[in-house]
Parts: sequence; C-alpha cells; structure tokens
Amino acid sequence: MSFPDTRLRRLRRSEGLRRMVRETRVLPEDLIMGYFVVAGKGVKRPIPSLPGQYHFSVDRLAQEAKEIHKLGLPAVLLFGVTAKKDPEASEAWRSDGIIQRAIQAIKAKAPELVVIPDLCVCEYTDSGHCGILTPDGKDVDNDPTLELLAKIAVSYARAGADVIAPSDMMDGRVGVVRAALDEEGFDQVAIMSYAAKYASAFYGPFRDAAGSGQFQGTRRTYQMDPPNAREALREVELDLEEGADIVMVKPALAYLDIIRLIRETFPVPVAAYNVSGEYALIRHAEKAGAINGPQVIRETLTAIKRAGADLIITYFAREAIEKGYLD
Ligand code: PBG
Repeated sequence: MSFPDTRLRRLRRSEGLRRMVRETRVLPEDLIMGYFVVAGKGVKRPIPSLPGQYHFSVDRLAQEAKEIHKLGLPAVLLFGVTAKKDPEASEAWRSDGIIQRAIQAIKAKAPELVVIPDLCVCEYTDSGHCGILTPDGKDVDNDPTLELLAKIAVSYARAGADVIAPSDMMDGRVGVVRAALDEEGFDQVAIMSYAAKYASAFYGPFRDAAGSGQFQGTRRTYQMDPPNAREALREVELDLEEGADIVMVKPALAYLDIIRLIRETFPVPVAAYNVSGEYALIRHAEKAGAINGPQVIRETLTAIKRAGADLIITYFAREAIEKGYLD
C-alpha cells in the first residue's frame, strides 16, 4: 500500500504516539562519565579546553561519584593528571598514585559505582607518548611497553578497579594485561579495550585536560588510520581472542559506521567514546548561540546508540541525566 492509504505521519502526530513507536532509547545505564583526577585537596577546577568539565582532586571526586551514583549513573572512566613524568611512567603504578587513590576513595563512598581506570602511560611519560620510546627515540617500542601496562593494570586492580580500559593501542596488550591480572588473582576484573581507536584530531581538548599534549611526533604509528574500516574488525577480533570483555570504538561521531560494523559482526558489548573534541564542538556552538545544546546532546547520544553502541562514554553523562535530556 502506498499514499494516500499509507500515511507515515499518522504515527508522528503526538508525543504519545511518537513515544510508542520510538526505536531507540538512551538510558542512564548506557552512559559512562569521564573524569580527570589531579593532586591536592578540595580541588574542583574548571578545565579550560572542556567548558563545563572539571579537574577534581581525589576527595572531591569521591563526593562527585556519590552524587552521580545517586542520579543513576552506573560507571566512571578515570584519567590521572600529574606533573611527575619520566621515561618509564613510574607514577602510574605506585600503590599511592593518583588513580589508585581515586579508585579507593570512590569505592569507599560509592561501592556500587563501576570504576574503570583508563590504562595508558601518556599522562605519565615525559615524552607524552602512549609507551616507552625506542632507543633512537623516534617511535614507541611495542613490547617493552606491554610489561609496563601489565604492571599498572595489576596495581589498578589491587586498588579495587572493576574494569581496566587499555587505550594505548600497542599490539598484544590485551593478552598481556589479561594474563597479568589472572596471575595476580584478578580473574574477575574485566577488560574494556579501546579496540578500534583511531589517530584522530578530535582528541585535542583531552590532551590539554590530561596534560598529555606536549608530545613530539605522531600517534599515527600506533593508533589506527582513520580511512580504515576492515582493519577495525581485525583489531576487535584480536582483542577478543586475547580476552577483551567489551570492545570500544573511538571517536564515536565520525565513526558511526565502524560502530555498526562491529555491532553486526561480533556478539559482544560494544562501547563508543564520544570524545573531547566532539564535546567541545557542541559546547562552543551552544555558547555561540548557533545550536540548542540540550537537543543536540540528546540527538547525538541517540545517534551513537542507534548506530549500535551498548555503552557510551561521554562528558555529557551527568548533565544528560540530571537535566533530563534522556527519555
Ligand atoms: C590516552 C587517551 C586519549 C583519550 C583517551 N585516552 C588521548 C590520546 O590517545 O591521545 C582521548 C579522549 C578524548 O578525547 O576525550 N591514550
């Protein structure tokens, strides 16, 4: 049947009808909020590159965690920001390091909140790269970096992490991290791998926020080349073989096709990272009066879910739930 017997507008006439036939809903439990943790006490300082986001000291973050858990947010992804950097990222695996203390403090105040430390050394290396450099200093050395990641992952698990999220893009890291966790008795700690992480210009504001922006050279020798889609399937396949429990696509908006491809190929939970540049574009356009922020945020999160993401990591998470942008 076609027009005039079929009229698709019939089911769009009222919000009641639209709600009934709505195919995609973003729920609070789909969202993971990202946080940047800094040294000090009582700190909640605006992040210039991410308007509306803050650098939290451990104590203030624990308070924030309690609040967001009450609001219905299920999980947080944590990034450590430190001035103490060296070639081996030694700040990253100290038992009293910033992330280790943040995990403990959150677990003390909001034990049910799922705590996911991002696992990468770029915030801790003096090079600003996601690994140890080769002897000539020209590239990141894959295999020596793996031992480092395993050591850090174990220390996060010891602090009480529920899930570890390796974001470095070294080959073989999921397997090495899985083995190290198992060996230390953390076989119940899950891995959410940044499986298809592209060398994207959308990470700009993050690098200012995390203090990892000063690096020389490029991340293109380890993060994926943006034009490639089939290669994303290989990355995911390998990570799953190595023991990943959840696979992530990052960034989200310019890679919705990749989210869909992975969703249709693998029967595992898929996460998508609505990254800092995507956040900043919306925030700045909203500030300039060019768009309706709440509506664009709602539409954006819905698009990522509709593409196939089960989980969305987004700096909009708290605001979206608190201000009722979700259905
Ligand atoms: C660390 C890391 C980055 C992001 C998450 N983990 C930056 C990078 O790879 O340079 C980006 C997150 C964002 O832009 O919001 N490797």
